Amino acid sequence: MKFNTKTIHGKQQHDPSTGAVIPPIYQTSTYAQASPGDHKGYAYSRTGNPTRTALENALASIENGNYGLTFGSGLAAIDCVLKILKPGDEVISTNDLYGGTYRIFTKIFEQYGIKFHFVGMENAHNIASFVNENTKIIWVETPTNPMLNIIDIKVAAEISKKYNILLAVDNTFATPYLQNPLDMGADIVMHSATKYLGGHSDVVMGALIVNDKDLADQLYFIQNSCGAICGPMDSFLVLRGIKTLHVRMQRHCENGKIVAEYLAKHPKVEKVYWPGFEDHPNHSIAKTQMKDFGGMLSFSTKGNTIKDAFTLVENFKLFTLAESLGGVESLSGHPASMTHGAIPKEAREKIGVVDSLIRLSVGIEDSEDLISDLEQALALI
Ligand SMILES: Cc1ncc(COP(=O)(O)O)c(C=O)c1O
Repeated sequence: MKFNTKTIHGKQQHDPSTGAVIPPIYQTSTYAQASPGDHKGYAYSRTGNPTRTALENALASIENGNYGLTFGSGLAAIDCVLKILKPGDEVISTNDLYGGTYRIFTKIFEQYGIKFHFVGMENAHNIASFVNENTKIIWVETPTNPMLNIIDIKVAAEISKKYNILLAVDNTFATPYLQNPLDMGADIVMHSATKYLGGHSDVVMGALIVNDKDLADQLYFIQNSCGAICGPMDSFLVLRGIKTLHVRMQRHCENGKIVAEYLAKHPKVEKVYWPGFEDHPNHSIAKTQMKDFGGMLSFSTKGNTIKDAFTLVENFKLFTLAESLGGVESLSGHPASMTHGAIPKEAREKIGVVDSLIRLSVGIEDSEDLISDLEQALALI
């Protein structure tokens, strides 16, 4: 099956008990057993639930993986990955990543003796110089949040294979529509399914997809033992979201390009960060490893004041000021005070998260309306 067909049919079957074309919401915590241990494949909904299974299979299909696991949030999925580590183990992570990921690494797992190296991965060959005998995971986010940097997944995978380290890729921004990290040699794909996979800003969920059975068993064990699973209603919503992922992403990419090009020409805009520009530092890598350039972008304004940034986000009419991204509706955010507030000022400015930076999640509205909205707000600064 090709990708668009997989979003609708991949690893899916009609409900075996009724023939329902869409997997029902199995709103049940438990399942009747004929005799102890004699059940129909489901014993307790923390361990497994048919609606969740349908979603986990769909995710495995669209990421070209063998196994999918879903969680109560993207961070719960990250938490699961980190729990395969032991005190003394080390992680090499990109230094430009979602603030919540930085927070769970530094504020939760560092206290259990895990060491994190935050490294600029614009040149992915840099990763090798941080590898030592304790390195267990390379953590990559590409495109990165919010600077839209691109990391070469194939180079990161070559390094991870050479040193027998796991490569985990947060594929939230790109989605499997744009890139499939497992095909490029990654071991774990992670998603905040809250974003494009759900696609309608109505659910919080996380996902992991892997190929290796032993790794999948380890992660399933943690998922079941720690219990950060998602419910059947949320599973249904994300499964429904995935069925239109390809058409939504196509429009997100088209609108993203129009908005990026408009902003780049605007006299009050200092810089636009979007991997589709030929002068983006890793544009050629983006072109090779992604099918298109996505609907996420960030921009800073001339003079770089927080006041201008606040004026803009307070006055957008369509780009609603809100946390999150990847829904059908356009959203704006001020990373320095919102998503990346958890990163100290000095560290965030080093990676480009300056006071005037605004991140846009370009939705699938008519692009003319989106441009008018930007126009009227930019006239106010
Ligand atoms: C790139 C990225 N990874 C992980 C997360 C965390 O996901 P969640 O909010 O679903 O816990 C987010 C949330 O914004 C994100 O943008």
